Amino acid sequence: MEKDLFSFLRKEFAAIGSPQEALWVFKELQKIDSTLAFKKAEEILIRRKKNEPLAYILGHWDFRELTLEVGSGVLIPRPETEELVGHVLDYLLKNSTKNFNIADFGAGSGAIGLSLLKEAPGNHQLHLVESSQDALPYLRKNLSAFPDNFKSRAKIFDQDWKFFSEGVDLIVSNPPYISDLEFESLEGGVKDFEPFQALVSPQDANQKYLEIFQKAEEVLRPGGAIFFEYGPAQEELWNKLVPGRYEWKTLKDQALKNRFLLAFDTSR
Ligand SMILES: C[S@@+](CC[C@H](N)C(=O)[O-])C[C@H]1O[C@@H](n2cnc3c(N)ncnc32)[C@H](O)[C@@H]1O
Repeated sequence: MEKDLFSFLRKEFAAIGSPQEALWVFKELQKIDSTLAFKKAEEILIRRKKNEPLAYILGHWDFRELTLEVGSGVLIPRPETEELVGHVLDYLLKNSTKNFNIADFGAGSGAIGLSLLKEAPGNHQLHLVESSQDALPYLRKNLSAFPDNFKSRAKIFDQDWKFFSEGVDLIVSNPPYISDLEFESLEGGVKDFEPFQALVSPQDANQKYLEIFQKAEEVLRPGGAIFFEYGPAQEELWNKLVPGRYEWKTLKDQALKNRFLLAFDTSR
């Protein structure tokens, strides 16, 4: 029976060009009664064939060491963002004698901030800032899955980062960085299902980075750092945008695309 189900899934998911998803769905369906599994598989396939992302169909998605609840209204965390978290962890380890106040601007599902809460050794405080009322229920749910001694080190700020006013040592963000025009060219699964406000920075694709550097003037403590994820359109931006008091560098992701900006305040 199990073998039949797996063969069925492999064939069906290969036909829609997502063969790797067969195993993820199989693992999910192994949790339920085998008589229901085929019916459930067919339901999943009907939705998947309409381009709905598998993460939304399953209602959860793995990100580093976490399984995050996701659904329409919140961005599905991406593999590149796992790498961003890795760079932040390296930085925290290099400064391991200090406990940081960390702000995750545009926390979404909590992928970045909650991974740091889980993985960073020490007693860092996490400030998870998110303005979307559609994303916030997922953020709250994902934080609530942590034990109390972790939860006490994290706080959700249900607000625009423009109004955030806590002093912090590190700002990390994967803000919306796609222009209206680029949005139109995105594949259907993303364009039709993922939240517009999580992907697009209307009018000016660089606007969100500008806002965060401005906010940093007020809340980032001397000697602090800013870690960003960005897209190809921003590559030429940093020379113009990063204020002079930062030393900065960009790093590539595993696909060798320029993807991360690491900026360190040298004004201390
Ligand atoms: C690209 S998503 C990133 C979500 C999550 N950090 C991740 O990496 O998977 C950007 C997030 O920023 C939020 N956002 C956009 N502008 C914001 C603002 N001005 N203040 C707070 N959150 C904002 C969006 O609602 C969205 O959840």
